[in-house]
Amino acid sequence: KILVLDFGSQTTALIGRRIRELGVYSEVIPGDTPLTDEFLASDTCKGVKGLILSGSPESVYTKEGSVPDPKVYSCGLPLLGICYGLQRMTYDNGGKVEALPKREYGGVGVTLDDADPPPHALSFINGFKKKSFTAWMSHGDTLTRLAPGFLQFGTSETGFPAVVIHESKSWFGLQFHPEVTHSEGGLDILAAYTFGVCRCEKNWTMEHYVEEVRRSLAARVEKNPVLLLISGGVDSTVAGALLLKTLDPDHVHLMYMDTGLMRKDETKTVKVALEKLGARHLHIIHCEDEFLAKLKGLEDPEAKRKAIGDLFITIQEREVARLGLPDSYFLAQGTLYTDLIESGKGVGKKAHLIKSHHNVGSPLVDAKRKAGRIIEPLDKLYKDEVRALGRLLVVDEEVVRRHPFPGPGLGVRILGEVTKEKCDILREADAIFISELKKRNLYDEIWQAFAVLLPIRSVGVAGDVRKYGWVLALRAITSADGMTADVYPFPTKDLLEISTLITNEVQDIGRVTYDISSKPPATIEWE
Ligand code: XMP
Repeated sequence: KILVLDFGSQTTALIGRRIRELGVYSEVIPGDTPLTDEFLASDTCKGVKGLILSGSPESVYTKEGSVPDPKVYSCGLPLLGICYGLQRMTYDNGGKVEALPKREYGGVGVTLDDADPPPHALSFINGFKKKSFTAWMSHGDTLTRLAPGFLQFGTSETGFPAVVIHESKSWFGLQFHPEVTHSEGGLDILAAYTFGVCRCEKNWTMEHYVEEVRRSLAARVEKNPVLLLISGGVDSTVAGALLLKTLDPDHVHLMYMDTGLMRKDETKTVKVALEKLGARHLHIIHCEDEFLAKLKGLEDPEAKRKAIGDLFITIQEREVARLGLPDSYFLAQGTLYTDLIESGKGVGKKAHLIKSHHNVGSPLVDAKRKAGRIIEPLDKLYKDEVRALGRLLVVDEEVVRRHPFPGPGLGVRILGEVTKEKCDILREADAIFISELKKRNLYDEIWQAFAVLLPIRSVGVAGDVRKYGWVLALRAITSADGMTADVYPFPTKDLLEISTLITNEVQDIGRVTYDISSKPPATIEWE
């Protein structure tokens, strides 16, 4: 097992997930966790063979920068510092860290030095498959003096230390992020640390995960009812499957709200999938009219998000009360790790707030959290881990493959005011886009694809008649986790054919465009 000390970087959980991908259990804990005897004797520390110090948005020399317990440096475990983690190790051990004149961001060339590594570092350095490679960096500080005993082993094209090792201890540091797919050979480096340096065994699988959930739920939930709020997407459906598999299905209540902002046939698909999984208490709430009434006249994206989120909560509370469950019930959510970090509620609560995701934090959730009655069985997992889990639990392939869908649904894909008419137009266009992607075997190559209805109309011709139709934007991106995204390089032929199909079949759409912005600087959704 490897423990990751989280200092607040957006990619911390990705480190944990990469280690698990290698088949070794890994857990993320706050970077400043005091290493008391009690903590060291706890389950979290059982079997730990190495520590990874994560990145951070802070600087080591400011008071905002989290500081690890000094025992990290005396416990004798191998250490790997990544970005801030390396700067932390350097600063805490007598080296110097200073601000760069200009932030380094994106792909940067790194070259390893020619020197022979000390014998204890051989297994680590063997993880570098190339002498020169491109690594993903995001840092505003750099090492300007190594701490005593440290050797520089690789240099960035901008002339700063990029790979650092200790001459005698099993301490290693990388200025770049090996956990990010854009770092060439990053996984090999993490594997070298995990297996070569820490000597972990490969024994972590999804079956283990299900058994752990079963054990921890049995101990926590006992015979109390569990209510899961299902959104229709992969995450909550897999969470539902997991609860149905690990608990008595008679104790599992699933609630799904049809907000009218769902994709075409979504409610039907979800219902069928959950019934197949053995759901016995499935509560489907139809509240389209309430949502449309609330959204009337609203144009500002954050105002729309807030309106949708607030109404979601109001209806949720009303409907949950209507179920008449005993106070002792547990509330389950299909929250993933990424949902938490994007809302500024990551493990160490340090990741900076990007967007107000309405599915994190509501009075019902807060009250249940306070009462210690929240279950989030997927909160350490990333999207593709959830898909793997879904397949193991035989969730419908249609649902498992499904691209992510934001909580506020079509509400953030209809720019400007949302109306029933626009929802119907977008639903039709989106369904054509998605079914064509499936027919053309492109759907699974794309991480997320959808259509966006723009708040503008443009002139066109239909036969001899001038037509004033809506403009639709198609978006298709590739990504590992939604944190960064590249535009899917669409074959022109497919794009043109899909555009023609849409304008032929959806009369109200006069023009189709393709969004060619990556994230950053754009976000995946338009609002
Ligand atoms: P952005 O647009 O922030 O999206 O680049 C990243 C991923 O998150 C999804 N998303 C949401 N998911 N509630 C959700 O559950 C939300 O409010 C929300 N907003 C964005 C988005 O679809 C993409 O997959």
